[in-house]
Amino acid sequence: LQCDCAVCCRRENEPPLIKGWIPFLGKALEFRKDSLKFLLEQKRKHGDIFTVRMAGKDVTFVMDSSLYPYIIKHGRQLDFHKFSDKVSPATFGYQPVHSKLHPGLKEQIHRSFKLLQGDNLTPLTESMMGNLMLVGCMYQFCLSVMFEATLLTLFGRPAAARRRTGTNALMDDFVKFDNKFPHLITEVPIWLLGGTRAVRQKLINYFLPDRMSHLTNMSEFIRMRMEINNTLSPLSAYHFAMLWAALGNTVPATFWAMYYLVSHPEALQVVRQEIQEVLSLSGVEFSSDTNVKLHREQLDKLRCLESAIKESLRLSSASLNVRMALEDFSLRLGESRSFAIRKGDAIAMYPRTTHLDPEIYEEPKFRFDRYVHNGAEKTDFYKDDQKLKYYLIPFGSGVSMCPGRHFAINEIKQFLSLLLLYFDLQLEDGQSRAEFDPSRSGVGILPPSADVRFRYRLRVV
Ligand code: HEM
Repeated sequence: LQCDCAVCCRRENEPPLIKGWIPFLGKALEFRKDSLKFLLEQKRKHGDIFTVRMAGKDVTFVMDSSLYPYIIKHGRQLDFHKFSDKVSPATFGYQPVHSKLHPGLKEQIHRSFKLLQGDNLTPLTESMMGNLMLVGCMYQFCLSVMFEATLLTLFGRPAAARRRTGTNALMDDFVKFDNKFPHLITEVPIWLLGGTRAVRQKLINYFLPDRMSHLTNMSEFIRMRMEINNTLSPLSAYHFAMLWAALGNTVPATFWAMYYLVSHPEALQVVRQEIQEVLSLSGVEFSSDTNVKLHREQLDKLRCLESAIKESLRLSSASLNVRMALEDFSLRLGESRSFAIRKGDAIAMYPRTTHLDPEIYEEPKFRFDRYVHNGAEKTDFYKDDQKLKYYLIPFGSGVSMCPGRHFAINEIKQFLSLLLLYFDLQLEDGQSRAEFDPSRSGVGILPPSADVRFRYRLRVV
């Protein structure tokens, strides 16, 4: 009788067996450590075909690729599924599909593989192309990019190690605070607003002198405000207020400008063309592998883009411009009208009524070139045949007019220019149109009531 045990005996004509000296484990560790080195060594010692004992299994290696066709031809004796049916269910936790428990399943599965090949490869490949466009939520995208960029630009950079975690936490707290902002400015006591006081304190603490002193590349604007620390108290709360002023309106304004352009591909095309032309006027031919910088003079020339941003502001701005009467007085409105106003009363202007007045803006929907005429800024808008001085007032007016308005327009221009130059953008299908969230009326730029999904993909130019 010939012994059948592979441990001590080999049958006639079997490949040499390499057992290793650890029972059961065999050569598994050596194989895992450097499989190529191990196998080449065995080949050198034992020739093209040898059996290695690994973790209780005998595995015969065929090292010469010219012999592979013979193995493949032995389909009846050498079954792949025997192997996969053992390994896969244990790995993924499903029942073996080739067992007798599921008659016909094996064939069905095999047929399904055809859907990965032949003609079926075409729709699959096209779909992959589409899905390779990354998907994002537009408001969240504008918030993250503008938050970090504005924070770094105004307040400077923290030490590298603290940068990312610090900014993300700050942004989350900023959003929590901003959600309660409409209540706070209508003087709802902060103690009625859940954890808002604690969140506000965290935000203020971010700007404590000790932290600020570690920031590098701070803007001159904030640096100067740090120097007037004797009069502003606590200064960190003023810094926090400035952060809100710089972002509270800019983020939704950026969102609407991006949303309107992406949802009006013909406008997006004209604006993109304008950016490329302005670049090439300065001798820069854009290509996606270059690192483009747009300077102030170039940004000033982007008239169509500026018009598109202003048009977005017209549609989304809902700030209230409020003035308090310091004394009883007669408010004269033109030649023939005047009204008595009491000391302490508030006078409010709500520019949204102007912005959406069909007599001034006959066609209310987004028109990217509304504020541009023959390559220059268009400023003549009329009501009752009278040319208006105030036809677009998203930044307030008079003494309290937003001091950050030029910076705001520029940063939105920069954001959109880079986006349009480097990315193809489109809205994801099947979504309803973005609507304004009316709950922030009176506060500033209205955010959208729900975020919008969009796709973006690097342009190859
Ligand atoms: C004030 C709008 C961006 C800093 C204001 C006011 C409005 C406004 C409506 C109140 C004006 C009034 O009551 O008459 C906007 C919009 C922005 C924007 C729509 C973006 C699209 C910025 C930025 C900064 C900034 C980026 C700073 C970097 C300020 C400051 C005030 C202010 C400091 C208070 C001015 C004062 O107390 O006199 N802004 N703003 N704003 N804004 Fe902006």
